[in-house]
Amino acid sequence: MIDASHRFFDLPEEEKKEFQRRNLLDPIKCGTSFNVDIEKVHLWRDFLKVIAHPEFNSLYKPAGYSEVSLEFSKRTREVATEILKGISESLGLEADYIAKAMNWDRVRLQILAANYYPVCPQPDKAIGVPPHTDHGLVTLLIQNEMGGLEVKHKDQWVLVNAAPGAFVVNIGDQMQILTNDKYKSIWHRAVVNNKATRISIAVPHGPSLDTPALPIPELLEREGQAPKYIGMTYEKFMELQASPAAYVKPCLDHLRV
Ligand code: OGA
Ligand code: NI
Repeated sequence: MIDASHRFFDLPEEEKKEFQRRNLLDPIKCGTSFNVDIEKVHLWRDFLKVIAHPEFNSLYKPAGYSEVSLEFSKRTREVATEILKGISESLGLEADYIAKAMNWDRVRLQILAANYYPVCPQPDKAIGVPPHTDHGLVTLLIQNEMGGLEVKHKDQWVLVNAAPGAFVVNIGDQMQILTNDKYKSIWHRAVVNNKATRISIAVPHGPSLDTPALPIPELLEREGQAPKYIGMTYEKFMELQASPAAYVKPCLDHLRV
């Protein structure tokens, strides 16, 4: 998957141009930075985002990309399904509780996102991806041999030393809402380096677009807690994250009771 993505980024600019689109539901889009229309500072990265499930979209170039991305998307979805089961059970719920509540079976938007961070001559003056939390339930991430993913731990940025080939699993905002803060979405960022190109593949898994995450009633009752968040459909939440409001305060804070 990493090699196939690398070959995509190596294509001539002319060939990538047709995918330079911006809308949430565009099946295939690539570009530089994050949202060049509204951001003040651009990021040191290119991206490729492909909707891979339930409709599988693919690129006929580079050769082999289509086969690899289909298989990768299927398998990561299976892994994510298992992780959701594990999290449900860890909360004392039926294994399929979260999947059912989030309408997992009719998710219309599973994105396969590749990040490409070229060698940067002054890495301390640039940023690959600024601090953020992922908006979905869980994100599965792999990277090539160049590290660069950092997570915030006790107010310090810590480099993630993932075993080669391992998935890093990040908890996203919808999971924090569902669990009323028991599972917290993790602040993370990507730094760049001056030695070699870094590539990461991130597969965010979220609820169905029309489904709002709400604190799970059974958990609230058991813990004697009041809900800390109001509901918002996942689609609205993603729009919020891509809007200027997200620069003012973190998305979760917009929903806090
Ligand atoms: C992301 C992300 C980090 C990385 O795409 O959401 O956090 O290591 N990427 O590339
Ligand atoms: Ni992220």
